[in-house]
Amino acid sequence: MERKYVIRGKKPLKGEIEVSGAKNASLPAICATLLAPGVYKLKKVPKVRDVFCMLKIMKYLGAIYEFKKDYLKIDTTKVNKFSVPYELASQMRASILFLGALVGAFKKAEVPLPGGCAIGKRPVDFHIKGISQLGANINLERGNLIVKTKKLKGTEIILDFPSVTATENLMMAGCLTEGETVIKNAAKEPEVVFLGNMLKKMGAEIKGIGEDTIYIKGKKKLKPINIEIIPDRIEAGTYLVLGALLEENEVIVKNVNKIHLKTPILKLQEIGITLEEVDKNAFRVKRKKIINPIKIITAPYPGFPTDLQPFFAVLLTQAKGVSFITENLFENRFLYVFELNRMGAEIKVEDRTAIIKGPTLLMGSPVKATDLRAGAALVLAGLCAENTTTIYNVELIERGYENLIEKLSGVGADIKVIEDES
Ligand code: UD1
Repeated sequence: MERKYVIRGKKPLKGEIEVSGAKNASLPAICATLLAPGVYKLKKVPKVRDVFCMLKIMKYLGAIYEFKKDYLKIDTTKVNKFSVPYELASQMRASILFLGALVGAFKKAEVPLPGGCAIGKRPVDFHIKGISQLGANINLERGNLIVKTKKLKGTEIILDFPSVTATENLMMAGCLTEGETVIKNAAKEPEVVFLGNMLKKMGAEIKGIGEDTIYIKGKKKLKPINIEIIPDRIEAGTYLVLGALLEENEVIVKNVNKIHLKTPILKLQEIGITLEEVDKNAFRVKRKKIINPIKIITAPYPGFPTDLQPFFAVLLTQAKGVSFITENLFENRFLYVFELNRMGAEIKVEDRTAIIKGPTLLMGSPVKATDLRAGAALVLAGLCAENTTTIYNVELIERGYENLIEKLSGVGADIKVIEDES
């Protein structure tokens, strides 16, 4: 069965779109429930493929879960396995988060080494080095990271780069590690801050969350809690750009945390897009008729997020002049450029920089999603293109966007899912 999206573009969009809970906050939150056996209630976990994949792994480990009306219930009381099956882990790189959670909770773990992925090599050397520095013995056997240790001991860990999931892994392991774990050059992304706050609520002693250095005093035991997931800043950014794509659009995006989106919002302003506050955390997107070209350089938070650059590339095809996007995190994050060019965009990639000449008229074509964000960017391109765009490989988009078709149809987009027998 092949799923594809068929979009008829250039329809003015009008109405409200509500942003869901953050996928990248939900994934570590689900893993963190392993740190203290018991029942957790997580509100606003999005029902997306990556979350279901994570939950399947949890079930394999012995946890029980159920989506209730407005929360996800996870019971980790009977977790009795420590190995993550390859078939599930290979579907999602974030499965590496089980390393820190299992080692922290049980002092042993068997986690498949994630393979390469479409957006780049994405090694996990910082994760392995950090967990080893806490005193764990890590071996690679048949593609699995096997960790055994009697006791972990807090120490100072300096990350070569502020990696999001490496920081999250070390925070989870550090909470139940004797002594003080210090993480230097830590990631400061809102999802890392969220996990830190969740761990604190569970009883962990952590200082410096959201700063360069995180200090964790290990506890013997943590406790289960209830918590609400923060809004998805990348989904919010996707819909803010959507609202700006056509001059006639009148879109209001709800459940936006403006603080988490400071840099992208400044960039929107430079382009000629403003956000009008209509309610608490709800913004109407307003654009000038002629929009400006700009320069974007991706960087760790609070810099411009790599996950948002594909959407800005689509928007900048409509700006008058030449724009530059430099990608500093993942080497293959420009694969969508070839698809956009097939739709009529004029983008050249030189080394790590995409040079976008605008404005160009986008024309509907068959195109292929190469990764989650690239795929969603093609959806945006299809919505501002002439005629019909067909998007293949949409399972990749569904890894991270909850009710995408419903949300877009809700503001008047002409988008359909087609399932072909093949
Ligand atoms: C997380 C996000 C992903 C986002 C990325 C950057 C989740 C589940 N995923 O991914 O959506 O695009 O942050 O904001 O939250 N690196 C190494 N060795 C390591 C780890 C990372 O060299 O051991 C490099 C990576 O190749 C990359 C950079 O560090 O160049 C940053 O990656 P990282 O922050 O680790 O991304 P993820 O945590 O995988």
